[in-house]
Amino acid sequence: FRLDIDASETDKGLYPFYMLKEVEEQPNVIRTILEHYMDAQQHVALDNEIKDALQKAQRIYIVAAGTSYHASLIGKRMFEGLVNKPTQVEISSEFAYDNFIPEDNPFFVFLSQSGETADSREVLQMVKERGFKSLTLTNVPNSTLAREATYALPLLAGPEIAVASTKAYTAQISVLAILAQAMANDSFNVAHPLASIAIAMEAILQNKEKYQELAEEYLVNAKHAFYIGRINDAELALEAALKLKEISYVHTEGFAAGELKHGTLALIEEKTPVIALLTQSATADLTRSNLAETAARGAHTMIITTKENAKEGDQVILPSVDAQDDDPQVVQQLAILLATVPVQLLSYYTSLGRGLDVDRPRNLAKSVTVQ
Ligand code: G6P
Repeated sequence: FRLDIDASETDKGLYPFYMLKEVEEQPNVIRTILEHYMDAQQHVALDNEIKDALQKAQRIYIVAAGTSYHASLIGKRMFEGLVNKPTQVEISSEFAYDNFIPEDNPFFVFLSQSGETADSREVLQMVKERGFKSLTLTNVPNSTLAREATYALPLLAGPEIAVASTKAYTAQISVLAILAQAMANDSFNVAHPLASIAIAMEAILQNKEKYQELAEEYLVNAKHAFYIGRINDAELALEAALKLKEISYVHTEGFAAGELKHGTLALIEEKTPVIALLTQSATADLTRSNLAETAARGAHTMIITTKENAKEGDQVILPSVDAQDDDPQVVQQLAILLATVPVQLLSYYTSLGRGLDVDRPRNLAKSVTVQ
């Protein structure tokens, strides 16, 4: 746990906005997390009681709000896909008032950048009253959610100042991946793929102008925009849409690509930007044809894809990740981290291009301590 905050961490230095600084910090956030959680053999160094609680749980509930909720959705994919652990994700403001039918041995994970979100605190109270154990993953180690849960682990992203959460999302997914490895008794390795992703992120960050150009071409003058994807890309589409709408005020929705045809397709007009995320090889072609359906109705389409799924003419082809010796399933689960940086940069440059205060969007707070 790091209780002290270095002044340089809260100073934006030469950056025009904290958000850009925080986006650029992501490769190092991943490295800090790996250093903290992995031993020399790249096994997870985790408190045995926490590991036991995760392994013995019949079902894991991940409770969160906002961006942390979106990271939880990826956590569920990893826990179920890599470890076969039944996992349920709950929006904290809903769960506090929901019908809850617990199995014999549930375990609750609270995911929160600030550790102070009132809705999540409310659920933690309920969980405690019912005698269930809990783990808080937070960026603020001495926060309320950390103090009140049975266990707490740090996200180690360093102070996040911009209202739009960026590096905390990456940190949350990285730590959840590490917990998946711990639950599986280190039968797969997430450290190498995460370290390779950190290097690839740096390559993306060296080419930021590209995203400024794309933001200007597609988004700065848009009224509405859509992100689409399937499986993990559908979860990232939700976060990408939130990121864009909250700082640019462009009305944006994230969609499971296959759902478009059941209603939302009606909203596509001439020049509506639709951005497809194609990091998941199993579904990339299907999403591509969903995107083509929007293009046929006039949409201004953009593709963000990994090298494996790329076709000529795609707007963003992500740098390749050194993954020959890695478990392909782990690589697929984590591939969305690579597409995360481009969608963050697209939001940043759209907000900038519209002359807005990127770090302090209207009506929003960094930490929401009311229900
Ligand atoms: C606020 C912030 C979001 C954040 C959400 C949940 O709405 O503006 O960026 O995702 O709260 O916060 P938490 O601190 O619990 O992750």
